[in-house]
Amino acid sequence: MAEQRFLSILLAFMVFNIPIFPLTSGYYEVSASPSLPPSEPPVSPPYGILPPSPSPSSTSLPPRPASQPPVPPKAEPPSPCSTTPSLAPSPSPLPSSGIKGAYWPSWQAEIIPPSSIPTSYFTHFFYAFALIDPTSCYLNISSFDEKWMTNFTTTLHQKSPSVKVLLSIGGAAANATIFSYMASNFDNRASFIISSLNEARRHGFDGLDLDWEYPATQQDMSNLALLFREWRVAARLESLLSGKPRLLISAAVYFSSNVFNSGVYRTYPGYAIREYLDFLNPMCYDYRGFWNTSVTGAQALLYDNSSNISTSYGISSWKASGVPSEKLVLGLPAYGRSWTLKDGNQNGIGAPAVGVGPGDQGMIGYNEIAEFNLKNNATVVYDGETVSTYSYAGTTWIGYDDATSIINKIKFAKSQGLGGYFFWALGSDVNWSLSRAASMAWDGEI
Ligand SMILES: *[C@@H]1O[C@H](CO)[C@@H](O)[C@H](O)[C@H]1NC(C)=O
Ligand SMILES: *[C@@H]1O[C@H](CO)[C@@H](O)[C@H](O)[C@H]1NC(C)=O
Ligand SMILES: *[C@@H]1O[C@H](CO)[C@@H](O)[C@H](O)[C@H]1NC(C)=O
Ligand SMILES: *[C@@H]1O[C@H](CO)[C@@H](O)[C@H](O)[C@H]1NC(C)=O
Ligand SMILES: *[C@@H]1O[C@H](CO)[C@@H](O)[C@H](O)[C@H]1NC(C)=O
Ligand SMILES: *[C@@H]1O[C@H](CO)[C@@H](O)[C@H](O)[C@H]1NC(C)=O
Ligand SMILES: *[C@@H]1O[C@H](CO)[C@@H](O)[C@H](O)[C@H]1NC(C)=O
Ligand SMILES: *[C@@H]1O[C@H](CO)[C@@H](O)[C@H](O)[C@H]1NC(C)=O
Repeated sequence: MAEQRFLSILLAFMVFNIPIFPLTSGYYEVSASPSLPPSEPPVSPPYGILPPSPSPSSTSLPPRPASQPPVPPKAEPPSPCSTTPSLAPSPSPLPSSGIKGAYWPSWQAEIIPPSSIPTSYFTHFFYAFALIDPTSCYLNISSFDEKWMTNFTTTLHQKSPSVKVLLSIGGAAANATIFSYMASNFDNRASFIISSLNEARRHGFDGLDLDWEYPATQQDMSNLALLFREWRVAARLESLLSGKPRLLISAAVYFSSNVFNSGVYRTYPGYAIREYLDFLNPMCYDYRGFWNTSVTGAQALLYDNSSNISTSYGISSWKASGVPSEKLVLGLPAYGRSWTLKDGNQNGIGAPAVGVGPGDQGMIGYNEIAEFNLKNNATVVYDGETVSTYSYAGTTWIGYDDATSIINKIKFAKSQGLGGYFFWALGSDVNWSLSRAASMAWDGEI
């Protein structure tokens, strides 16, 4: 039984007597975040601003390969090294240069093979996604994943030995109920933790990234805190036993530390994130979209002086929750969202609209936007007030990020002392222009 293995690992850990449980008092406090009334009216169903964001079913994103038949449980305890466990310290998780991250949608493997990815613009890559088995809580590694995970880690490490490659679990299309079940008790968490550490090692990853979209209740949030603590302890232990650098642990989260306008009000466990995660990826996009077609919107705007649904608010809420700035990695979209204007002559942000425009429910990759703009001689406007870009042609309107808005967001991230940035997703850039601009801006070259 996985949980017995987990317990024996914990026992072994206690035998080594290594003080890695920072059992400071106040662990269960979730507060420290600004207590926000759900001041914004709940956005209409089904999604609020919690849409299936990086939708794996976008037209630009070929559908995920169908799930594979059941996999036998593979979770094994991290095999103790034949040598004495090394007490070498964990590697410094945050390179001084910061994190330049990007998610790789594995279902686009044929379109954007690992060999085509320029490692010079990035420090961290995320394989998207592994799913959790609803019964065993082990990772479901399909034969497709079996083929591509090792290829992904090996290829990227060969191209640049210093890049970190993480296995991301979940994603917008994953069933949040399964996460909730997995996190709900010790045995389920233990199964998940051991399976994830085991699969990460088996496929050459440097870390694990949890992409639970989203914890739905405060109970889920409390369980998430427990998961982070146990995951971190187990990762440390695995490192001691294997003599390998500790696996990194990160999470992709809501843009804001408090979910204030969708479902019940709830707050992420800032304390547990600060203590147990190496870094955090707030998904600073999907603020506007197909769930409200009455007006156009900037889906990832930095500033909004009439609403808290903005990146600047989200980042400030994360800081207020107790997560140190340097652990915050700013999410950037390499895609936009489109609308059909009511009147082509009224074409600003917030202009009347009657429906979505091109894309999968209006979600459209930057590469397709560039193509649309060129083909239709679209007017492109950079809006400095919101730090966003939009284009329009006829009655089609698209809000997105181009190099200018990306560069200005990176400058914001630097001015806020953040730990880096990440893109959703590799494969939607145009000639790596956004990736290059972001990297140069981060390095202060532009
Ligand atoms: C995991 O695999 C099992 C068996 O193959 C399957 O029933 C289940 O739907 C899968 N879970 C997910 C989340 O894909
Ligand atoms: C990865 O897969 C590609 C395409 O199947 C193959 O050409 C390449 O040799 C593989 N690389 C590694 C390191 O396995
Ligand atoms: C999500 O998972 C739960 C539990 O396994 C299941 O009851 C539910 O039908 C699933 N929902 C969807 C949309 O697949
Ligand atoms: C859509 O968004 C606009 C601007 O935020 C808002 O005024 C309007 O009430 C929203 N409509 C719906 C149906 O939520
Ligand atoms: C937001 O601020 C700008 C100036 O920075 C101002 O022009 C605009 O009217 C303001 N919008 C609202 C809704 O207050
Ligand atoms: C935004 O959040 C702050 C608290 O952080 C609150 O005082 C303010 O009223 C909120 N603004 C809106 C427009 O909801
Ligand atoms: C493209 O649009 C601009 C105005 O936005 C116009 O001056 C130009 O003639 C147009 N070019 C073509 C090829 O339609
Ligand atoms: C991308 O690069 C190709 C080849 O260098 C070039 O033909 C194309 O015009 C570029 N596309 C854009 C949008 O810059």
